[in-house]
Amino acid sequence: MVGVGIIGCGAIAQTHAKVVQTLDGAQLVACCDIDQTNGITFAERFSCIFHQDFNQLLAMKEIELVIICTPHDLHQSMSIAALEAQKHVLCEKPMAITLQTIQDLISTIEKQSKLYHVCYQNRLNPTYLLLKKQLVDNIYGKITGIKCELAWERTPDYYQSDWKGTWQREGGGVLINQAIHMIDAVTWLVGTPEKMKGKIMTACLDHVIEVEDTAMAIALYHDDTPLVIQATNNYTGNPSPKLTFECEKGQIELTAEQLLFNQEVILEDLPQHSTRISKRYWGRGHQAVLSAFINEINGQADERITSLAGMDALQSLKIVLGIYASSRENNWISLNN
Ligand SMILES: NC(=O)c1ccc[n+]([C@@H]2O[C@H](COP(=O)([O-])OP(=O)(O)OC[C@H]3O[C@@H](n4cnc5c(N)ncnc54)[C@H](O)[C@@H]3O)[C@@H](O)[C@H]2O)c1
Repeated sequence: MVGVGIIGCGAIAQTHAKVVQTLDGAQLVACCDIDQTNGITFAERFSCIFHQDFNQLLAMKEIELVIICTPHDLHQSMSIAALEAQKHVLCEKPMAITLQTIQDLISTIEKQSKLYHVCYQNRLNPTYLLLKKQLVDNIYGKITGIKCELAWERTPDYYQSDWKGTWQREGGGVLINQAIHMIDAVTWLVGTPEKMKGKIMTACLDHVIEVEDTAMAIALYHDDTPLVIQATNNYTGNPSPKLTFECEKGQIELTAEQLLFNQEVILEDLPQHSTRISKRYWGRGHQAVLSAFINEINGQADERITSLAGMDALQSLKIVLGIYASSRENNWISLNN
């Protein structure tokens, strides 16, 4: 039985805790939050021990896996502390908000014997997994263009928090928080482009947040294959984000619910066919990520393990931070170094 500790008892922590409750091989032992009210309410709801200081949670021998669900600016330092305390780590995205000290995290991951994953749960959607396999088998031919579209709605209420909407703590807006899931999927499916140019703006939420609510970027693979990224938090509702791939043999469209080739359904995974713990627009992959990770810790064969995000999560972070730099400098940014 894998003992689990959750740090940060806000919105997404509820999803992780509910998933842990469904897994035979795991048990939620303790939670931690600097906000005592949040933490105690969570501990009572999920019948676990509460700590206000995360070092106390890390000191618990019964905990093998730590899930980090805190604001973005804490991910890197908390991941390092947890790995150094000999815990396996599942960190919510992004892995960090700058690249200045990322080498410290990478060195710790390489040095410690414990496992480190980042929660990019969409990779484990059945439609995504099938496309990954098909691309490895090269059944669609050369890819000539990619489009990554995310149009969601985040109202001013969403930003009623001490970290969301700020450069210092969230590290950005729609790109680093929402669209990074899709950018991660692109890098996992087809790799990292060489260079990019992008623009960000704060449109409808300009009186609420200092970070961007809208972004547009072009990235290039081999100087000739474009990746177009369009992201906004100013839409109506939260439709499934979509990836489109133009290929030699036709067009692939990928969402959490469908994989289409030339508008024909290759695989459908509709919400009513599955038990959902997460909000619909987060996808339901938290269940898959946690069960695969627990299997990995227990040394059990699970083919999803190779699809979990680890240090390769750095690629989407580099793209997001590259778009911010490009927008500031109004220039192309190279991703080769
Ligand atoms: N994978 C997904 O689909 C998904 C969905 C939503 C959120 N997230 C990610 O989850 C993380 C948390 O987001 P959220 O919406 O749950 O945020 P939230 O603000 O609801 O919760 C964060 C919690 O962390 C606590 N916290 C802050 N500093 C702390 C500290 N030093 N020690 C312990 N606790 C501390 C806060 O008090 C709060 O309860 C973010 O990284 C976010 O991007 C991922």
